[in-house]
Amino acid sequence: MTTDFTYYTPTRVVFGKDTEKQVGTLVKEQGCKKVLLHYGSESAKRTGLLDRIKASLDAENISYVELGGVVPNPRLSKVHEGIMLGKREGVDFLLAVGGGSVIDSAKAIGYGLYHGGEVWDFYDQKRQVEGCIPVGTVLTIAAAGSEMSNSSVITNEDGNLKRGLNHDSSRCKFAIMNPELTYTLPQYQTMCGAVDIMMHTMERYFIIDDTMDLTDEIAEGLLRTVIKSALVLKDTYDDYDARANIMWASSLSHNGLTGAGNSAPGDWAPHQLEHEMGGMFDVAHGAGLAAIWDSWARYVYKQKPERFAAFGSAVFGIERTEDAEADALKAIEQVKAFFKSISMPTNFRELGIAPTEEQIDEMTLKATFFGKRTLGNFLVLGAKEIKDIYMD
Ligand code: NZQ
Ligand code: ZN
Repeated sequence: MTTDFTYYTPTRVVFGKDTEKQVGTLVKEQGCKKVLLHYGSESAKRTGLLDRIKASLDAENISYVELGGVVPNPRLSKVHEGIMLGKREGVDFLLAVGGGSVIDSAKAIGYGLYHGGEVWDFYDQKRQVEGCIPVGTVLTIAAAGSEMSNSSVITNEDGNLKRGLNHDSSRCKFAIMNPELTYTLPQYQTMCGAVDIMMHTMERYFIIDDTMDLTDEIAEGLLRTVIKSALVLKDTYDDYDARANIMWASSLSHNGLTGAGNSAPGDWAPHQLEHEMGGMFDVAHGAGLAAIWDSWARYVYKQKPERFAAFGSAVFGIERTEDAEADALKAIEQVKAFFKSISMPTNFRELGIAPTEEQIDEMTLKATFFGKRTLGNFLVLGAKEIKDIYMD
């Protein structure tokens, strides 16, 4: 049965080759006075993208200040730096050139500039968001979907807490997406992105109650497309169509489309479990998700094996039998095999981390927000279940 829903995607998407040249015009349309040009560590400079963007801003006489150095799993200290700079310079628009980390850092700066006070309080659920300074992006990696999502995920170095915050006011005003900009990605980052994109759809797919037929079909088609495109990109970096499909899937996976009409917003336990791994060990988000998938899926699938069996049939063409549990296990195994085939880790060892039991206890405690929440929907996970999955 279809559940009522609101679908809100206010982001103007400008997709295709050379689209970054339009950035000056798009920023100008926002009517802002001063832009903060926000970017990561090296790639945007190295590839010449930053220079092209500055040229486009200069051509429209847009004044801007720069702040680079955002790292993956973006840090609160950089957000603070951005807020201070933004206040000093009268910034009223944030232009994020990069991936999820840069966009999320820009959104956090946007919250800070809008409200004043300590921005972490929003991530720590001590204050409610009311608005955000407008953000736009030139996307350089297909992965997190932040270019169309209402989320921002920040790591507070004080306690290694990685926390997400959702608010519609942070949705990008525009997202420039040129698939060619992703040709320079290391293979590892391309594949981390593919996993993250898949998981944004799978988190919405694996819920215990009703889903909408059309949404299931969209989700399954998206997953098949990402798998096919990732396999193409195993052997070549510059297949435009594969890059384009993955890039568009990144946005559609996390803008609400693949969950519309479903009875719950999703499961999201794998993501929350990964956030603690990222917070403690600074692993790449997609790799962390790949590493936790198998342990999570095998722990929960008995709640409704038919759902995993249907997924296996629609996404991997696994023939269904009378034995839904066996079919479900085949589907879980097939996802794992796919992750392996694109050189993604499928357990902690392959991810390169070896948490002690004490560290697992700490991750578990943080995942439950120190005993204040449970995780998941397919199977609701409390501290015991979370620890079991981490210990698997
Ligand atoms: O810093 P630079 O030098 O740019 O290098 C980056 C970074 O090292 C590099 N890179 C990006 N574009 C490139 C490139 N290298 C060469 N050529 C290019 N064109 O890639 C590395 C990873 O970048 P990052 O932005 O961290 O990747 P991603 O987009 O996967 O973002 C990950 C972050 O997003 C969060 C994750 O938790 C993680 O912190 N998420 C955000 C979400 C959201 N806001 O909706 C949802 C997700 O579930 C996720 O949690
Ligand atoms: Zn994700």
